[in-house]
Amino acid sequence: MSLLELRNLVIDIPTHGGVLHAVRGVSLSIQKGRTLCLVGESGCGKSLTSHALLGITPRRARVGMDALRFDGRDLAGLGERGWQDIRGARISMVFQDPMTCLNPCYTVGSLLEEVYLRHRPGGRAAARRRALEMLAKVGIPDPPERLRQYPHQLSGGLRQRVMIAMGLLCEPDLLVADEPTTALDVSIQLQILRLLAALKREMGLAILFVTHDLGLVARFADDVAVMYAGRIVESGSVEDVFERPSHPYTRALMDCIPVPGRRRPGEPLGAIAGIVPSLIGEQAGCAFRDRCAHAHPSCSRRTEILRRGIGHWYECLTEAEVPAR
Ligand SMILES: Nc1ncnc2c1ncn2[C@@H]1O[C@H](COP(=O)(O)OP(=O)(O)OP(=O)(O)O)[C@@H](O)[C@H]1O
Ligand SMILES: [Mg+2]
Repeated sequence: MSLLELRNLVIDIPTHGGVLHAVRGVSLSIQKGRTLCLVGESGCGKSLTSHALLGITPRRARVGMDALRFDGRDLAGLGERGWQDIRGARISMVFQDPMTCLNPCYTVGSLLEEVYLRHRPGGRAAARRRALEMLAKVGIPDPPERLRQYPHQLSGGLRQRVMIAMGLLCEPDLLVADEPTTALDVSIQLQILRLLAALKREMGLAILFVTHDLGLVARFADDVAVMYAGRIVESGSVEDVFERPSHPYTRALMDCIPVPGRRRPGEPLGAIAGIVPSLIGEQAGCAFRDRCAHAHPSCSRRTEILRRGIGHWYECLTEAEVPAR
């Protein structure tokens, strides 16, 4: 059974140039104990979609959805008070840049304790015990000393671990991680990913992992949703999507990364020609059509959901025409 099910999320943002249709009917589901990677290029709506799962949307935006079911409850019409009980307790978030979320005026100890006290009984002593326990669990050396420090006194990798500890303090069911390793260097990035994978196994956590890096998806995902221009264009298990990428955009993305065994040494990597279309004004048909080698006239009018297997689908009209690689 799905832990979270989002149906038909629409986010419109009024701008000087007209209404920006930033998220255009996104549906996704996240299974208990599994990692769903939301992947796509910059500006395609990954952050808006993932933040909406915690009830966070830009103030000026018009937001609509058919349903947001989480653990048997519909959160679609929930008010801010209701969200405050859920955020940090049942669904937590790890952001790309910890310095934007860790208040620099408070010690790591008081930041962690406040989160615990907001959601759990037991008072400050219990909060401190739990903070120490979580800092140790995320591999931070000398937790008592770290509790006394301020965020700016920690390295980038340690700050990201503090964010993860904070996210997991109240044992949520779902962790939403929006590009949590993009600001880190490669070796620290790997350490953080391994840590998340271990915590997921240990705590039975579900993760929504947002990234633009298909290499990370291959290593880390159970399920994948590929996003383009405000819509999910392909979705399925990581095995299905990597073995049989079906949407021309997914296939083009795959051509841009080196896959061992698929490419001969020295063979040049691909690049996707053209640019992402403007999402201002009315949208019809497939947003990828101007960059797609397989597009035909109907693509400007409509798209279709095509199924490739259990849980693996893509949105396109080109079923038979897409040649196998
Ligand atoms: N608060 C806002 N006001 C106006 N436009 C916004 C706002 N937030 C997002 N947008 C626009 O909505 C679109 C989707 O933004 P979003 O941040 O979800 O993209 P993203 O896929 O997370 O990109 P990135 O990989 O760069 O983080 C972009 O065109 C962005 O400029
Ligand atoms: Mg983003």
